[in-house]
Amino acid sequence: MSLNNTTVVVLGGSSGIGLATAQAAQAEGARVIITGRDAGRLETARVALGGHADAKVLDAADETGTRELFAGLPALDHVFITAGTLVLDAKLAPDTSTLAPAMDMRVWGALYAAKYAAPKIRPGGSITFMSGTASRRPLPGASVATASCGAVDAFARGLALDLAPIRVNTIQPGYVDTPLFDGIFGAQRDEILAAAGAKLPVGRIGRPDEIAQAVLFLMKNGYVTGINLVVDGGGLLV
Ligand SMILES: NC(=O)c1ccc[n+]([C@@H]2O[C@H](COP(=O)([O-])OP(=O)(O)OC[C@H]3O[C@@H](n4cnc5c(N)ncnc54)[C@H](OP(=O)(O)O)[C@@H]3O)[C@@H](O)[C@H]2O)c1
Repeated sequence: MSLNNTTVVVLGGSSGIGLATAQAAQAEGARVIITGRDAGRLETARVALGGHADAKVLDAADETGTRELFAGLPALDHVFITAGTLVLDAKLAPDTSTLAPAMDMRVWGALYAAKYAAPKIRPGGSITFMSGTASRRPLPGASVATASCGAVDAFARGLALDLAPIRVNTIQPGYVDTPLFDGIFGAQRDEILAAAGAKLPVGRIGRPDEIAQAVLFLMKNGYVTGINLVVDGGGLLV
């Protein structure tokens, strides 16, 4: 299956894995629509996409906005919901309200997108949710984020049945070098990521384009549904 002349929506497409996926889909001839919360970041991404993508400000946790986004599209082929961030919870110490976004973005955001996109998806189309290897190996200090990954994995398997023949999968990256870590690790970012990469069988952490190619596989292979695809440089083995 080719992405040529398809319409691909990437929720959280203004940076990192989402932007790389938008670029890869566009390179294969897809019309791309990206979203994100920050208008400036979104415009920078739109320019990076050669000005050819449609870009809309949208919080993935906003049900009304998500409904309006998909209502405004005549038809589409593939949706990738990668919007999210790493919510650290320090053994549940922070105020509960600060932990809720982990679920709001990844789980409820996935639900809103699937609910309003599904009626617009053409035959052969797909939905891909963002998960992470944390779902299989918990990330210390991020049990809520870990739970959100497990929830979205199970949700995808359920929807693969309920929304069939639309195909529904998750991607489970290990460490990937994206702006996600800028705020989390600060000045020590590069050092920490290099150390994490050195422990992996491949000797380095992943690049956004490597995850993007795996997402495109999930979009294009018409026999793949209900899976949770690990792309982690062998991280689960060590
Ligand atoms: N990098 C990794 O190692 C790794 C590993 C496993 C899983 N993941 C997951 O992969 C996803 C993408 O991460 P990334 O590494 O590509 O990070 P990134 O470079 O920070 O990109 C995150 C993207 O999501 C958008 N976003 C965040 N929250 C959003 C929301 N509530 N509504 C709409 N858009 C939102 C961001 O734009 P705005 O901030 O402007 O909204 C941005 O476009 C995240 O869900 C992350 O948890 C990452």
